[in-house]
Amino acid sequence: MPRDSDVAPRPLLDVRRLGKQFVRRRFWRAPVVTRAVDDVSFDIAQGESVGLVGESGSGKTTAARCILGLTRPTSGDVSFAGESIYAMSRARLRAVRRAMQPVFQDPYSSLNPRRTVGQSVAEPLVVHGVGTATTRDARVAELLDLVGLDPAYGRRRPNELSGGQRQRIALARALALSPQLLVLDEPVSALDTSVAAQIVNLLLRLRKDLNLALLFITHDLRLVRHLTTRAAVMRLGRIVELAPTDALFSAPRHPYTQELLAVGGDRAQRSAEQGQDHEQGGQDADDSGVLPLREVVPAHWARV
Ligand SMILES: Nc1ncnc2c1ncn2[C@@H]1O[C@H](COP(=O)(O)OP(=O)(O)OP(=O)(O)O)[C@@H](O)[C@H]1O
Ligand SMILES: [Mg+2]
Repeated sequence: MPRDSDVAPRPLLDVRRLGKQFVRRRFWRAPVVTRAVDDVSFDIAQGESVGLVGESGSGKTTAARCILGLTRPTSGDVSFAGESIYAMSRARLRAVRRAMQPVFQDPYSSLNPRRTVGQSVAEPLVVHGVGTATTRDARVAELLDLVGLDPAYGRRRPNELSGGQRQRIALARALALSPQLLVLDEPVSALDTSVAAQIVNLLLRLRKDLNLALLFITHDLRLVRHLTTRAAVMRLGRIVELAPTDALFSAPRHPYTQELLAVGGDRAQRSAEQGQDHEQGGQDADDSGVLPLREVVPAHWARV
């Protein structure tokens, strides 16, 4: 998206025309091309919280994996602090990975069941050679306190904790190396509503206290309302609307956003996948998606 580069500070994260295709070859038949991410552009300023909302299969996780440098996109670019992450040396990418930490839906995947919570939280410090055993212990206690847990939890194992506590531990671990950006992929989707609300409040506080930038990925539009300042709505790999969160809720411009708001935001069970697998070119049959993203009012973009 065009920006006034004379006045705007350089964004922390800059996603430009990102595209990722998956090709499934089939015997005797045309290959199936899934445009999981299609021409996605947005940016995040230092300390800003941006939401990425979309139904199952809309391409959120694929976008997140490209942004984190875990998957190479088919096209487009991702810059962190002005530098393309795909053009970086391995050493530089390693440094950037400290600054840009992922948090996933299932904290079990990042927490080793055989290790104590304290060991798991300290692991990034050990891997990156930060501090001594003593200073690391102090840092772990500080991190647990930061996410609202008594430092005594450091001696427990993941299976002794509730889902909400485990997600707090995953956050403590993600914060260990003092990142500038958290990429949160459905961090509260596995949790009960009240526990999810507590984690969202924790993220709000962390963002404020640590001036942390957040990319908050969810299928639930309601969750972005209090947590994000801007949000992008994704459908079939494309951003159909990108606006300040208040404007997105008060004056949605794209019919799809309006539809999501009308049904209450949570359509987790409804998958967009039927619409997602196409013979080559098939996705263009959906003309609501091929309209260019245009700025309908300042800072409010929609494919209308
Ligand atoms: N490794 C892969 N190989 C082939 N297709 C893939 C792969 N990963 C994702 N896809 C396809 O890309 C599309 C986007 O998937 P993705 O997981 O990014 O969506 P999502 O928005 O994160 O969905 P969910 O809400 O279910 O997590 C889907 O059609 C999916 O089937
Ligand atoms: Mg996903």
